[in-house]
Amino acid sequence: MSKNNSDFFKEKNDWSVIKDKLLGCYLSPYFQKVLMTKKPIYYVDCFAGKGKFEDGNDGSPLIALKVREDCLKRANISFKNGAIQPCFIESDHAVELQQNVATFISNYGDANIISGKYEETILKCLSDKDNYNVFLYIDPYGIKALNFELFKKFKTLGFNSFEMLINFNSFGFFRDACRVMRVNYSNDAALNSLEDLIEYDPMTVDTNAQSEVLLNSIAGGDYWKDIVKDYKAGKFDGYKAEQILSERYKQQLKKFFSYVLDLPIRLKEGQRPKYRMMHVCNHRDGCFLMAQNMQKRKEELFLNIQQDGQFTIFDMLTGCSSTGEGDLITIEEIAEKVSQHLKGYNEIGLTEYIASFVNEYGLICDFKMIYDSLTILEQKKELQILRNPAHRKNGKKSAFWEECKDKTITLRRCKA
Ligand SMILES: C[S@@+](CC[C@H](N)C(=O)[O-])C[C@H]1O[C@@H](n2cnc3c(N)ncnc32)[C@H](O)[C@@H]1O
Repeated sequence: MSKNNSDFFKEKNDWSVIKDKLLGCYLSPYFQKVLMTKKPIYYVDCFAGKGKFEDGNDGSPLIALKVREDCLKRANISFKNGAIQPCFIESDHAVELQQNVATFISNYGDANIISGKYEETILKCLSDKDNYNVFLYIDPYGIKALNFELFKKFKTLGFNSFEMLINFNSFGFFRDACRVMRVNYSNDAALNSLEDLIEYDPMTVDTNAQSEVLLNSIAGGDYWKDIVKDYKAGKFDGYKAEQILSERYKQQLKKFFSYVLDLPIRLKEGQRPKYRMMHVCNHRDGCFLMAQNMQKRKEELFLNIQQDGQFTIFDMLTGCSSTGEGDLITIEEIAEKVSQHLKGYNEIGLTEYIASFVNEYGLICDFKMIYDSLTILEQKKELQILRNPAHRKNGKKSAFWEECKDKTITLRRCKA
């Protein structure tokens, strides 16, 4: 069934609101932090859309431009023009995009608008960006344009730093994969609630070798076939298949990038995740910032969209946390993982530890549960938590949990 996306820009839907928040709330601290490198930022919205929705809401290009304006206004740097260079790529609506973007007058230079396809233009855009800090926002309707080979090429370019935020429609991928391998999913409720798949443009796939090649090029390998085979054999349902597929896709990305996070998104009460926003970067600070941001969005999703009050109260009463995958995890389980993960280090800064922990396990709990677990390990004398400054102005011991320019936290494992 081909989904018609012609109404997409009429009214912003819940799913787009979540994506926008994830992007907008990240860009502000990202720009501020990366501007300190004194090297320019090249921000590319690779599937930019119209810039505005017909209901008056800003699309991702205007969201980014407004955050840029605000950050540059406040930034304490000598070069502001050219410090953050925006580029918007759009295949179908470049004229409207241009008009909508023109309604926002910037003091710091215009955005470059490219009428064309991301997969055909991006390498040229990036070809002269040596030493830049590059951020790509990749928000397609489906998966067709997500060529993994391009991601590998980005890795070889000489950027000062590189990050991507990708809307990966894992559920749609799996359904297309079943169709290519002639696996019947008509009895699986998970794979048949098509109306829940917003803005997914299915591939015109067939059971031929060409379609397999296309799926391999998107996934960065053919591991997806084994998942489809196991699904066909009844080893798990469509929800679990999507989870395994996403995990394997993340592993594939981790071969080329140091940190990969994903935010599984479910839009309705009782539903399992169907969408993933994936964040890829090579720096612990980027991973940490995005993890904080995703954690906040996860909490908002629980409270605002799912309105799953009972589940939330249950969480609070039992000291459990939602993993975001529809499961609960206890503080004891988190503490065990925190302890296990520490064994890889003798001494490590807290931000680096958290980035490494969420990179390994995903966003399985809020940061407070990790901090509580570290405190338990300190009480058990497995660990020393060294804060600098060690004391507050009033002489009391410091108790902060966030590192910044003047405050650091070192975790030192005690010898057994
Ligand atoms: C999901 S929408 C993007 C929405 C946008 N991020 C926003 O928040 O307003 C995807 C956009 O990508 C465009 N598009 C589709 N294929 C493309 C391609 N290969 N390269 C660039 N843009 C493409 C579509 O016309 C559509 O406007």
